This record gives sequence, structure tokens and C-alpha cells, in this order.
Amino acid sequence: MSGAEIRHIPFGRPWITADDRKAVMQVLEGHILTHGPQCRDFESEFAAFLGDGAHCVSVSSCMAALHMAYLHFGIGLGDEVIVPAQTHTATAHAVEWAGAKPIFVDCDLATGNLTADAIAASITPRTRAISVVHFLGIPCDMPAIMAIAERHGLRVIEDCALAVGARFAGGHVGLFGDVGCFSFYPVKHITTGEGGMFVTRHLAVAEAVARLRAFGVDRTHTERGVPGMYDVPTLGLNYRMSEMQAALGRSQLRRIGVNLEQRQANFGSLKQTLKELSDIRILDARNRDAESSHYCLSVVLGDRLSAGRNEVVARLNAAGIGTSVYYPQPVPRMSYYRNKYGYSADAFRGAAQISDRSVALPVGPHVTADDTKYIADKLRSLLMEVKR
Ligand SMILES: Cc1ncc(COP(=O)(O)O)c(C=O)c1O
Repeated sequence: MSGAEIRHIPFGRPWITADDRKAVMQVLEGHILTHGPQCRDFESEFAAFLGDGAHCVSVSSCMAALHMAYLHFGIGLGDEVIVPAQTHTATAHAVEWAGAKPIFVDCDLATGNLTADAIAASITPRTRAISVVHFLGIPCDMPAIMAIAERHGLRVIEDCALAVGARFAGGHVGLFGDVGCFSFYPVKHITTGEGGMFVTRHLAVAEAVARLRAFGVDRTHTERGVPGMYDVPTLGLNYRMSEMQAALGRSQLRRIGVNLEQRQANFGSLKQTLKELSDIRILDARNRDAESSHYCLSVVLGDRLSAGRNEVVARLNAAGIGTSVYYPQPVPRMSYYRNKYGYSADAFRGAAQISDRSVALPVGPHVTADDTKYIADKLRSLLMEVKR
């Protein structure tokens, strides 16, 4: 690799193969574009991948799944839901749309996740649910969190948007709590363009949410004795996934094993090279029972480098290395939440440190072993310059 070489390594790139294209084209060559067998098969194949009695409902996005979780459990006005301060805004928006109040809780600095202790300290008589996010695919300590939830009679909604393949003590995330919500947005582990999966161990919950997702009608197309005839016993939404999306998702899911292996290998070699650098730390699983899904590798700059984060980003980008920031601000610092609830800017120090000082590096299957070496070399040399 010559010193002057500039590569082009995007932060995320959907991995679309000829098989994926063929799967989507086959749907288009038929006549069933929604309400069909692709969605049903995607749901059962995703359930088989998760294991442990999972029931899956394909949906239009992870946020749709989160929203329906609160609607289904009747969590709304006057209720509080514990939400991580360090997350995507969708985690909190779903609570807001349901009419409940998000109670933001700061994260653990090593993992970016909520801890059981921090959750316990934020429970009030109004708390109805705990929303946990497996930050960057690093699983939360679900047994400890479930113990608290059970003690207080709280629902647990797992936001697994970055966590396809993440496990705790062998169990896939999304199946510890009442509900798990997955995202298939383009840069996620698998994609359907837009899309998501509502996951639960409880058949009755899956059946009710499947109706909620489709206007609240009482029977699917195949269940209608007279075509076009149905009743609407409950209020519903249209949060369905299309057949083209489901066909793409099924085809993508077939490669999830190799996808996760490549992420793990890229993450491992980047981490190995970067760990000799002082003044940075890498967000990663700390618990020996936790298996990350390695969505990306997020480097948090230490005190001496902290003011130089945007310079680090600019230099990496100039070297052709795509980056991102997970997440750009703690959610309570975003204008909508700050204006509504009046949180002070320095209230969530752990989450703020990650937002203000971190750089997320690519580890997806589009990144080669040679690319990880290039990324590590560039980061190492530019950190020396930024420090001076
Ligand atoms: C933690 C988390 N939750 C929810 C979402 C929203 O996912 P979707 O775009 O599928 O609604 C995202 C998106 O990146 C996310 O990172």
C-alpha cells in the first residue's frame, strides 16, 4: 500500500447481490406485491434465526415496531417510560407518539448501554416500561434488567435496531423482554430498503400487533370467506412491509452468518491495532456473556484529543474513510426534547461524552482486511498530528 494511496471506504454500504436482485424481480414478475407469502416466509425465517420461540411480525420500520409496542400494551398519557439518553431519536419518539413521557437515563461509559442500577434509580410510581437499546450491537445485561422489571411489574421493550446477531448468554436479544424491535434500514446488518421486525415470545401479542399493523382488520386476505369482506374491531395503522422488501430481506438473511463473521473479524483486527494507542477508548462488550453484533467500531477520544473530534472526522474522510457519529447528540439535548422538557445541556455526561467525542468507523462486509489496516494506519498517524 503506497503512502499516497486514497481509498474509498464508505461507512455503510448495503450488500446487494445478484441473488437479492433476482428475489425482488421474481416478486415483481408475479402479481402479489403486498399481503403475501414473502412477508410470511420472512417472518418465519427470521423467527428461526432468532430461535427460542420467537414470533415475528414484519413492519415498515423499527420505529413502527416500537410505536406499536407501546400502543399494544396501552402505555400512554400519564405513564413514564425509561429511555436511554444515548440512542437514536426513534427510541424516544415512539414513546412520545404513544403519549407517554420518556424519562432519559444516562449510559455506561464503557458500552454506551443502560445499566440495571441506573434504571433502578429512575423508577417512579408512574413508570410502566423500560426501553433498552443494544448500543452499536453491544447487548445490555438483560438478565439483570429483567430482574428489575419483574420486581416492579414493568414492560421491557428492546430496541435491537443495530443488533441482528447480538446475544447475551446465548439468547438472542429481542427475546428477553416483552418485545424486540429490529431495523432493516440500508446500512443495517441486513436491509429491506426501509423495514423492520416486531418480535415477541408471546403468540397472542404477535397476533394482535399483526392486526394493529394492518388497519385493525379482523382477517387477512387468505382468511376472508368472501373476497373484500372484513370487519374492523380495533383502531389500526398501516405499518406493513411490502413483498419486494420481504423478498430482499429473506435473501439477505441467508448471508447473515458470513456477514456477522466479517464484522467480527474487521472489528477484532481494528481493535487489536488501535488498542496500543493511548488517549482513545473503544466501545465494546465488557461482560463475558455478551456477544456483540459489531455494527461499527466507535472510538471515543480522550481528554487531550476531545476538542479535535471534527478534525479527526474531516481527516479520515479526506483519506476516503467514511465515518459516522452514534449518536450526534444525547436525545434530551435535541431541540424538541430540550424545549419540551427543559433538560440542562450537561445533564447526561456519559451520553454527551460519546456524542461529542466519538467517531464511528466501518466494519461491515464491504470492508476488506486490507481496508481495516488502512483505516488503523490512517487513524494512528492523524491522531499523532491532531495531538500536537
Ligand atoms: C437505536 C435505533 N432505534 C431505532 C432506529 C430507527 O430505525 P428505523 O429507521 O428502521 O425506524 C434506529 C435507526 O438507526 C436506531 O439506531
